[in-house]
Amino acid sequence: MKILVLGGGGREHALVWKLKQSSHVEKIWCAPGNGGIAADAECIAMDAGDVDASVALAEKIQPALTVVGPELPLVNGLTDVFRQRNWAVVGPSQQAAQLEGSKIFSKQFLERHRIPTAKMYGTFDSPQEAYRALNSVTFPVVIKADGLCAGKGVFLAPDFAAAKNFVARVMEKNELGAGGKRILLEETLEGDELSFIILTDGKRYAPLVPTRDHKRVFDANQGPNTGGMGAYSTDELLPAALCETIRSAIVEPTLQGLTADGIPYQGFLYIGLMLTKSGPKVLEFNCRLGDPEAQAILARADFDLAEVLSDVAAGRLDASKLHWKDGASVCVVLTSGGYPGKFDIGKKIDGLTAAEQITGVKVLHAGTKLAAGAVLTNGGRVLGVTASAKSLKAALALAYEAASKMHFEGMHYRKDIGAHANQRRAAGD
Ligand code: AMP
Ligand code: GLY
Repeated sequence: MKILVLGGGGREHALVWKLKQSSHVEKIWCAPGNGGIAADAECIAMDAGDVDASVALAEKIQPALTVVGPELPLVNGLTDVFRQRNWAVVGPSQQAAQLEGSKIFSKQFLERHRIPTAKMYGTFDSPQEAYRALNSVTFPVVIKADGLCAGKGVFLAPDFAAAKNFVARVMEKNELGAGGKRILLEETLEGDELSFIILTDGKRYAPLVPTRDHKRVFDANQGPNTGGMGAYSTDELLPAALCETIRSAIVEPTLQGLTADGIPYQGFLYIGLMLTKSGPKVLEFNCRLGDPEAQAILARADFDLAEVLSDVAAGRLDASKLHWKDGASVCVVLTSGGYPGKFDIGKKIDGLTAAEQITGVKVLHAGTKLAAGAVLTNGGRVLGVTASAKSLKAALALAYEAASKMHFEGMHYRKDIGAHANQRRAAGD
C-alpha cells in the first residue's frame, strides 16, 4: 500500500512512524514533511494547505490512501476534491471541518443539539457591539475569534480593559487577519482539560486513548498559550464513569447532530473538554488529531494504523481493531527560544542519536530540516520527545532523560509535563 500523509509537524511524524510499522505499507510520501520524517518517508516540498498542489501530487503518486494531518487542507476542502475522484482519504469534508474553522458555527451547533458547553453571551461582527456587550458580562470572560488563527484566537480576559484591548487588536487592527472579523463571547469554565479524540467513519466511532495537553509556554501554566508544549496519556485520566458520560452526553449527540444536520463526518474528531464541577463541557472541536496529543496517543497504539485508517476511508471502521498499550505515554515539546513569539531558526541540533538510544523513547520531529548532514531548527515547536512505559512516572523519566541529552541554541521546554497528575495522585485527589 502506498500512502500519502499531508502536513509536516510532530503529529505527521507520529502518523508516518506508526504507518511505517504496518506490514501493508510499501511506501510513504509526506508533503511537506520535515527533517525527521525524511528518514521514514519521501518528503515533497509543498504548502500543506494548497489543495491544487495536493491533487497534482496524488495524481502523480497514486496513493492507496491519503491521510490529512492539519486543519488547513480540510478547511480548504481537500477531501471533497479527493472524494469526487474516488480517492481514499481520511479527514472530514469542508463543511464538517467548519466545526474547527468557525467557532461561531461550532457554538451554534453545540447549542442547537443541547451539548454541554460554556454559555455564550453573543456573537459580534463590529467592535462597537462587542464593547457594548462587555458592559454586561461576568469577568473573566472568554473571547474567541471566529476563524482559524493558529492558536492565537482565544483570550481569557480578566477584566474590561484587557477584554477591550483584545477586541481592538482583533477587530480594529485586524492583527489576526480575516479570522478575527467576527468574535464570540462566552463564560469562563473552570476545571481540568481533557482531549477526547475519536476516529469515525460517519456511522461508527472509536475513542482513542485520553490525553491532556499543556498549552501555556512556561511551567505552572504561566505565559501565553502555544500550540501545545507537551501531552501525556494514561487511562487514569478517564475513569469508566466519566468515559460513559462523555460518550452519552457529548460524543453521541455530536455524531447524531451532524447526521441530523446533513453533515457526514469522517476522520479524527478532537473534542476539547473542560471537566467542570457540573460535568464535562465542550471547549472546542478540532477536525483532526491534536498536536502534541497525537504523539502521546500513537505511542500507545498497538494496532495496524494503515489498516484501521483504510477501513475508515472505506466506511467500515471496526472499533475492536484498536488495541492500546497499558501504562502511559508522554510527549515533551522542545521549542525555539522566544516561541510562541518571535524566534530564530537554523540552529544546529545536537544529541539526537544519544536521545533515541534510550529504550522506549522516540524523538518525533516538528520544526526541523536537514542541511549538509546536520539537523537544524526550522520552526517554533522543534522536537517532541515521546516515551511510553508501564507508568506515567516512568514515561516522564525517560522523556526528560532524553530531552536532557539534546541541545540547540535557545532551546526551551516545560519541566512539569504530567506533574499535575502526579501531584493529584500524591494528594489522593
Ligand atoms: P480553544 O481553541 O477554543 O480550545 O481554546 C484554547 C484554550 O482556551 C482551551 O484549550 C482552554 O484552555 C481555553 N478556553 C477556551 N474556552 C474556554 C472557556 N470557555 N473557559 C475557560 N477556558 C477556555
Ligand atoms: N494541542 C492542541 C491542538 O492540537 O489543537
